[in-house]
Amino acid sequence: MDIQKILKELSIDEKISLLCGKDSWHTENIDRLGLRSITMNDGPHGLRIPLDEGGSIPATCFPPAATFACSYDNDLIESVGSAIAKECKNHDVDILLGPGFNIKRSPLCGRNFEYYSEDPYVCASLASSFVKGVQKEGVGACVKHYAVNSQENFRLTIDSTVDERALREIYLKAFEKVVKDTNPFALMASYNRINGLHGCENTHLLNDILRNEWGYKGLVMSDWGAVNDIVASIKAGMDLEMPSSFGQGVKKLKQAYLENRLSEEEIDRAVEHTLITLERSLNRTNEPCDYEANHNLARQVAKESFVLLKNENVLPLNENEKVLFVGEMIKKPILQGGGSSKIVMTKIDSLEAYLKKKNNYDYVDGYRLGKGFNPEVHKEVLSKAENYDKIVLFVGQELKDVTEGVDRKSMELNFVQTRLINDLAKLNKKLIVVLAIGSAIYMPWIDKVDAVLNIHLLGQAGASGVVETLYGDNNPSGKLTETYAKSIDDSIWNKYYHKGNKSAYYQESIYVGYRYYDTFNKEVLFPFGHGLSYSKFEYSNLNISKSEDKVLVSLDVENVSDIDGKEIVQLYISKKDSKIFRSKHELRKFKKVLVKSHEIKKVEFELSNDDFTYYDTNDSKFVVEEGEYIIEVGASSRDIRLTEEVVMNGKKENFPNTDLQSYYDGSFSDLDFSKLLNRELPLLNHPKGKFHENSTISDLKKTFIGSIVAKVIVSKSKGQQDAEDIFEGGSFEDTLNFMPLRALSNMSGGQLPEEMMYAIIDVCNYNFIKAFRKLRGK
Ligand code: BGC
Repeated sequence: MDIQKILKELSIDEKISLLCGKDSWHTENIDRLGLRSITMNDGPHGLRIPLDEGGSIPATCFPPAATFACSYDNDLIESVGSAIAKECKNHDVDILLGPGFNIKRSPLCGRNFEYYSEDPYVCASLASSFVKGVQKEGVGACVKHYAVNSQENFRLTIDSTVDERALREIYLKAFEKVVKDTNPFALMASYNRINGLHGCENTHLLNDILRNEWGYKGLVMSDWGAVNDIVASIKAGMDLEMPSSFGQGVKKLKQAYLENRLSEEEIDRAVEHTLITLERSLNRTNEPCDYEANHNLARQVAKESFVLLKNENVLPLNENEKVLFVGEMIKKPILQGGGSSKIVMTKIDSLEAYLKKKNNYDYVDGYRLGKGFNPEVHKEVLSKAENYDKIVLFVGQELKDVTEGVDRKSMELNFVQTRLINDLAKLNKKLIVVLAIGSAIYMPWIDKVDAVLNIHLLGQAGASGVVETLYGDNNPSGKLTETYAKSIDDSIWNKYYHKGNKSAYYQESIYVGYRYYDTFNKEVLFPFGHGLSYSKFEYSNLNISKSEDKVLVSLDVENVSDIDGKEIVQLYISKKDSKIFRSKHELRKFKKVLVKSHEIKKVEFELSNDDFTYYDTNDSKFVVEEGEYIIEVGASSRDIRLTEEVVMNGKKENFPNTDLQSYYDGSFSDLDFSKLLNRELPLLNHPKGKFHENSTISDLKKTFIGSIVAKVIVSKSKGQQDAEDIFEGGSFEDTLNFMPLRALSNMSGGQLPEEMMYAIIDVCNYNFIKAFRKLRGK
């Protein structure tokens, strides 16, 4: 494809048409020049191709990223990417909308089930593998959501207020590494604002960093309905508005071009990126896919990802024991989350059917899903349980807690399940809790139970793995990719998360997850990187050798048990006597190794200078601080087994922010945060006052007229959404509450044209005459 020639041949109207989606899932085609559309579909843990009549084409539902990331298995995750890409090829899809790897800043984020970790290196490494897997099939990956999109409430309008160092080290690091290592076909700019500017308009993120620093040449598309101002977005480095805005975007771009507010060069730049991506997509073949193989892979992935959190010698089970299985979740397990990633599955392996194959299988409901406390059901399980040696209780989250568009409200399991755990624990039987959850929860009952197995969200084929793990035919080998905090009082995010509807202060800066808990010695429920096995591993012989540009690390891991097992060895780096505020240590490498019973395996890591860097805001780049570093190797962030020192050359003076005392003691004062940002803190909440195009439905609902208007909009949109069936129960309405009017208008398919939207805004502002004129003018 001769892209420069095509650029010359395209008319200005044709070029502009390429900057806006043709519909929900395609770019525009220009048949005259033989340019076909690019087809894209969700992602990320299965292919979702919506059908006009509702639902979507059946696809393999892999366990979502929150599950499979716990496998820490790069090869396995690469094969998931390839498997989904094969389904894309089967359906002629060019780009898979995934992976998503926003940082898990708070466990309450409704979308954490789609994301990888609280740690940028885990995200970077595993998401890179996923992208490689997708792209080696000739299908493109679209990495998302760029960036600092760590909450769902008010996601289209919230201003993520974050300092430059945290931005670079925590929130952009994985994007940087994935972009540089894998050159993804596309990148999706997020809904939210970052330091005042929307993801699609954020010239610092798009032009300065992504294009100029990282040299990215791929396609930058908006998240669906994320465009706030299309002209500003194209100028800031975005290339494609998605989905179609039904002519609104095109009209505005043409007008801006005619008024010399947007140059042809700027338009060409965006078109060129689309053409480059189309050219890459032309290599994609169309071929049938082996769905049975994908189902089997989904089974394998789940099995590798379960995390055994606690085990006081009660697991594995043995078929001769009298075990009572409890929980309606056994019959109706939660397999995936809600929202754009929701898959219609090709088939589902039944947990109940696999359990029934076991000798002595006995079951009782224990609770009724989605219903309140039922004294009969509760009593029944307690009296039945008296007759058993062990009780295996399946509990977990409801779909409303694992869904896009809205954050979770509580960190605990629901009241009914919690009560059941507490009451069963009183029976003095061995109590094993199996958890189906999309992200961390509190477990105030942890000391009362004997074992906890976290199976996360299983995907369509995880059932057999659960049974195999419980009975010892599979040795659990997953580890947590996020810290499980003890309670609300000692959760770092609780101080700053959900504090306003206008801005979100990322006041803890770099201290996300274990970076906070470990640095400030907070007790946790389960540390980052934790996960037990039926095997036992010992670490020895840490050896470090340093050359000009690398540090080689090796150690031995011995399986001192009679069972073959897999261990995830983690390498953290810690700076001694640092001049800047820092996390106690940071993960830089990990490796999952199979170590047979009584075998010793050598594990090797190679560290580069990059691994010792921090982002220096005085020098505006990543630099190494001179001095001694400790290389720590361990089984979790709190289970460091071996350490060794190494000395690095580097920066000696002129360190930034050394006077911010509260970032050394963990109190993170407003004043210091403001100094870190180098500006006044923005307003946390929208001031009461006039409505505008970025007012949300929940804002409208605060006034009488607004609430009537909101009702009409909600009922109209609901009809459309029901057809797609990706949100459960009330969660779509919750999602809609956070939608600004301009996004509703853009995506309404002409049902809410801009003039009408502005007239509604006038009505809500009691400017009836203005509204009337607008409507009449139309
Ligand atoms: C989500 C994206 C998704 C897109 C298309 C958006 O609401 O944030 O992750 O790819 O919809 O369904």
